[in-house]
Amino acid sequence: MLNKLVISLLFAVTATAKVRFDNHQVIRLWPEEDHQLKYLHQLYQNSEGLDFWTIPRKLSDFVDVRVPPQLLEDFHKNVGKLNMKNDTLGIEKAEEELVKSRSSNSRLDWHSYYDLDVIYDWMKEIANTYPDIVELYEGGTTYEERTILGVKLSYKPNNPVVFIESGIHAREWVCPATTTCILNELLTSEDPDIRLIAENFDWHIFPIVNPDGYKYSFDYNRMWRKTRTPGDRCYGVDGNRNWDDRWLEEGGASSNECSETYAGTEPFSTVEYDTLAKTITSSDPTVYFCMHSYSQLLMIPFGHTLEVADNHDELMEIGTKAIASLAERYGTQYKVGPIYDVIYTATGGSMDWVKSYLKVPYTFEWELRDTGYYGFLLPTNQILPTCLETLDSMKTILLEVYNSISKK
Ligand SMILES: *[C@@H]1O[C@H](CO)[C@@H](O)[C@H](O)[C@H]1NC(C)=O
Ligand SMILES: [Zn+2]
Repeated sequence: MLNKLVISLLFAVTATAKVRFDNHQVIRLWPEEDHQLKYLHQLYQNSEGLDFWTIPRKLSDFVDVRVPPQLLEDFHKNVGKLNMKNDTLGIEKAEEELVKSRSSNSRLDWHSYYDLDVIYDWMKEIANTYPDIVELYEGGTTYEERTILGVKLSYKPNNPVVFIESGIHAREWVCPATTTCILNELLTSEDPDIRLIAENFDWHIFPIVNPDGYKYSFDYNRMWRKTRTPGDRCYGVDGNRNWDDRWLEEGGASSNECSETYAGTEPFSTVEYDTLAKTITSSDPTVYFCMHSYSQLLMIPFGHTLEVADNHDELMEIGTKAIASLAERYGTQYKVGPIYDVIYTATGGSMDWVKSYLKVPYTFEWELRDTGYYGFLLPTNQILPTCLETLDSMKTILLEVYNSISKK
C-alpha cells in the first residue's frame, strides 16, 4: 500500500516535468541469424525501459532501440554477446529537429506539428465552413474523458464508407498531420481523380484516436506510444494490441503492463477502443485505412501466421499498384504484404479485428515515412510530401475499389 502510494507520488512529480532524452542513445542493430532476431524479439516483448523504435522483423532488417543512459552499459554487455553489427544514431540531432518542429501558430497548416486543441479546432472550423458536406462526429471517449473527434464527409447519399483511423500510437505525429492534410485535399483539390474518390465515397475520418497519448507526447514525453490508462506500476495500454482478435496470443503482444506492447487486462479493456470499435461497427465501412509510422510499408491482414485474408490476392494486387503510384511523385519506396510478413507477429490489432470480425473487404495499414533516419522525429518539411504521396496511393486503391464495386 505504502509502496503504491510512493510510486504514484513519484508519477505525480515526474508527470509535471518534461521528459528529456539527453544522453539517451538510439542503437541500430542488424540481426543476421535467427537466434539474434529471436533474442531481439524477446527483448522487444518483455523488457522494461528499452524503447524499440522499430519492431524486429526480418534477418538483415535493422532494429532501432532507444536506450536510456542507466541501461547503456548493461545493454552493450548483454546484447553485445550476440555479436551483431551495430551503430549509434544521434538523438541530440533529433532533439534539435524536435524543437524546430513545433509551431506557435494557432491555426493548423502542414508545415509544423500541432497540439491536439489546434487540430480539433480546425476540424470544428471545416465543419462550419462546409456545413452541407462536413459533420463532426464523436467516435468514442478516452480514459481522461476526452472525445475521440472525427468528421464525416459526404457529398451525396448512399456512398460506400471509407473509415480512416490514425494516431493510435501517440508519438507517430506524422499520422495526424497526414490524415488532416488528406482531409483538406478531399475538400479542396481540383484533381479529377481526387474529386471522384472524395465525392463517391463517404469518409469517416479520425485523425487522432489516442488523444490522451497525443497530448501527453506533446506536453511531457515525445516518445510516448500508449494510452494513458494507469496500471499498478506503469501507465498505458498499446492501443493496437487491445482489440478482440487473437488477443495476447503467443509472440504478438505483452502481458507486462510496463512493456510498450502491453495488450491490456482483457480484449477491449480500454474505453478508447471499446467505444471506437462500436463506432466502426455502426459506420459499416467498405474500406478501412489505418495510419502508423514509421518504416514505409503498406500492410494487409493478418498479424498472425495462421491465415491470410479471404481476398488476399486482390488486396496484394491493389496494394502493389498503390505503392507504385506512391513512388511516382518523389521516388519513395514502400514494401507491401501481410503484417505478419512485413513486420513480424502482432496480435490484437485494429485492422485484423475489422477484417475478421466485421468482414470489411478492403483493409490497408500504412507505416509512413521514413525508414529510420529520423524515425518518429520526422522533420516538418516532410509532412506535405508524405501527405501527397500517401494520397496518391489511397487514390489508386479507391479507384480500384470504385471500379470493382461499379461492376457488381
Ligand atoms: C556494438 O559493437 C561494438 C563493437 O563491435 C561492441 O563492442 C558492442 O558490444 C556492440 N553492442 C551491441 C549492443 O551489440
Ligand atoms: Zn503505430
